[in-house]
Amino acid sequence: MTNEMSLSFSATLENEPFVRTCIASFVVCLNPTVDEIVEIKTIVGEAVSNAIIHGYNGDKGCLVKVKAYIEDDLLTIYVIDKGQGIQDIEKARQPMFTSKKELEHAGMGLSIIEALCDEMTIESSLELGTQLIMKKRIVHE
Ligand SMILES: Nc1ncnc2c1ncn2[C@@H]1O[C@H](COP(=O)(O)OP(=O)(O)OP(=O)(O)O)[C@@H](O)[C@H]1O
Ligand SMILES: [Mg+2]
Repeated sequence: MTNEMSLSFSATLENEPFVRTCIASFVVCLNPTVDEIVEIKTIVGEAVSNAIIHGYNGDKGCLVKVKAYIEDDLLTIYVIDKGQGIQDIEKARQPMFTSKKELEHAGMGLSIIEALCDEMTIESSLELGTQLIMKKRIVHE
């Protein structure tokens, strides 16, 4: 049976630590290693900050949604914004591509997520928003 949770929160970076910790706590039932917890916190942090910074341009009045599902040893996380959307998904996935160079972004968030997940899917439409789906198997070796 699937175990699931969902969260909705204001699009401000102040909320990023609480959301990361929340997902990390949800996953405790899978008995993850410390490394796995660090990886999960990292991918959630990168995805949530993208939704806030790029999706909503830091507009606190907007809401980011995070949903997580556990099925056997598989964790699936959705990070959803109804913001501006991604113009070119292929380009966005490339290491060191950023649309906010002036704000000193390295363009590494999506590459880091891809490296730490088993699967990363991006669904995005201009003006409608973005849904990032991350799948990670918890092997607790
Ligand atoms: N939720 C989103 N909504 C709109 N655009 C996004 C979203 N997530 C990513 N992007 C686009 O994809 C690009 C690459 O994202 P990525 O996280 O790899 O780098 P970054 O956020 O620019 O820099 P860094 O994560 O290193 O601070 C962003 O610059 C932005 O143009
Ligand atoms: Mg980023």
